[in-house]
Amino acid sequence: MNRLVLGAQWGDEGKGKIVDILTEEADVIVRYQGGSNAGHTVCVSDKTFILHLIPSGILHPEKICVIGNGVVIDPKSFLEEKQTLEDLGIDIGERLLISEKAHLVMPYHKEFDARREAILGSSKIGTTKRGIGPAYTDKHARMGIRVCDLLNLEVLKSKIEENVKEINRLCELYEIEPFDAGKIFDEYRDYAEKLKPYIRNTVYYLNGVFKNKRNILFEGAQGSMLDVDFGTYPFVTSSHPTVGGAFTGTGLPYKALDSVVAVVKAYTTRVGNGPFPSELTNELGQKIRDKGAEYGATTGRPRRCGWLDLVVVKYAAMINGVDEIALTKLDVLDGLDEIEVCVGYEYEGKKIGYIPSQLEEFEKCKPIYKTFKGWDSTKGVLNYDDLPENARKYIEYIEWFVGVKVSIVSTGAKREETIRR
Ligand code: GDP
Ligand code: IMO
Ligand code: MG
Repeated sequence: MNRLVLGAQWGDEGKGKIVDILTEEADVIVRYQGGSNAGHTVCVSDKTFILHLIPSGILHPEKICVIGNGVVIDPKSFLEEKQTLEDLGIDIGERLLISEKAHLVMPYHKEFDARREAILGSSKIGTTKRGIGPAYTDKHARMGIRVCDLLNLEVLKSKIEENVKEINRLCELYEIEPFDAGKIFDEYRDYAEKLKPYIRNTVYYLNGVFKNKRNILFEGAQGSMLDVDFGTYPFVTSSHPTVGGAFTGTGLPYKALDSVVAVVKAYTTRVGNGPFPSELTNELGQKIRDKGAEYGATTGRPRRCGWLDLVVVKYAAMINGVDEIALTKLDVLDGLDEIEVCVGYEYEGKKIGYIPSQLEEFEKCKPIYKTFKGWDSTKGVLNYDDLPENARKYIEYIEWFVGVKVSIVSTGAKREETIRR
């Protein structure tokens, strides 16, 4: 059984935890898009791991992890992450493969990401400043530098020189100090040496795994509403967190996917700017932020918090062909008298049940809420039938509205605080 785990909201739904749980049933875990903008948290015993580029499956001994061709790799960030994991006692050994077709994040990508945001001022996207947008821009402009270029230093040198020449023309415009191609080459030559043992043609490798009927788990980063096509453009990331990204980002055929698991947080959060109809900018929003520890795993920024928006989740279920929902952080809503759920929007006096493509329209949408009675505690509950009745009603309403079964309920950050149905 090959499963895909993706976020159904604006990221940080708890994908890391769900991937960790489902890794037990997989042989190979593959990341297919994004880069070190992701922050996937996994709590095992008394240790907390935050994964950015390396698939969360790495925490399970003997599982093979692949960074697919659709990912953009910052070698510096990768090596730091690998070191942090090893310091925490994770033995990576030969369990990690990096696609030779993946594109590299270069120092100028990070610089331009930050500079562009500064120029945009109050209309900035609120990126993670990890160079993601500029790296994907160069990929699609066909001037990117790929992991396989690290294997031929002559090619690497000439590509860096060519790129820096072009980039330095832009530097003047953006008022950035020009880059030194020689310095960048020296830095990346060193990375080449360190990355070499992991570089593989993962397209052939993964297809071999598929042919041999071993189980593959696709690990999505970000969320459907941050997809460059389907999200709240331009307040999105530059990749495809949605299901299509899994194929273009790995080279596996669509037949290699048996089930799509959407991770849905029991409320909604968003980091960065852009429309968020069910946002709570009041004390209650702060209460949820504190209780849910809603601070970015990558940037530490406070996450914007609000009620569960089922129009968003239903849209994500539609575009991704979602088979199962993993509902996370139900315990964060414990102890509230009433809980609201957004079931539609009011736009210019009309009720609508879809996500408008025009941002200006979506920004004007007011949430229409259905009110649920709260419950006492779900924290650490392990059996569905042991959940408070009102919590079960909440879950069953989500299933009814979205038309998808909730097969996993997460009642705490720890591995074992999980209900499987
Ligand atoms: P991801 O990016 O989708 O992997 O999610 P993040 O790791 O950025 O954010 C999810 C946060 O919620 C992490 O700190 C998790 O440890 C935590 N978490 C996951 N599931 C639960 C849950 O059911 N209850 C609580 N209280 N925390 C959870
Ligand atoms: P995980 O995998 C939440 C957001 C940024 C910004 C927008 C563009 O942990 O769910 P980028 O740096 O990608 O160009 O920023 O996307 N963003 C995320 N928000 N979780 C993430 O990843 C995110 N990765 C990017 O905050 O709004
Ligand atoms: Mg995250």
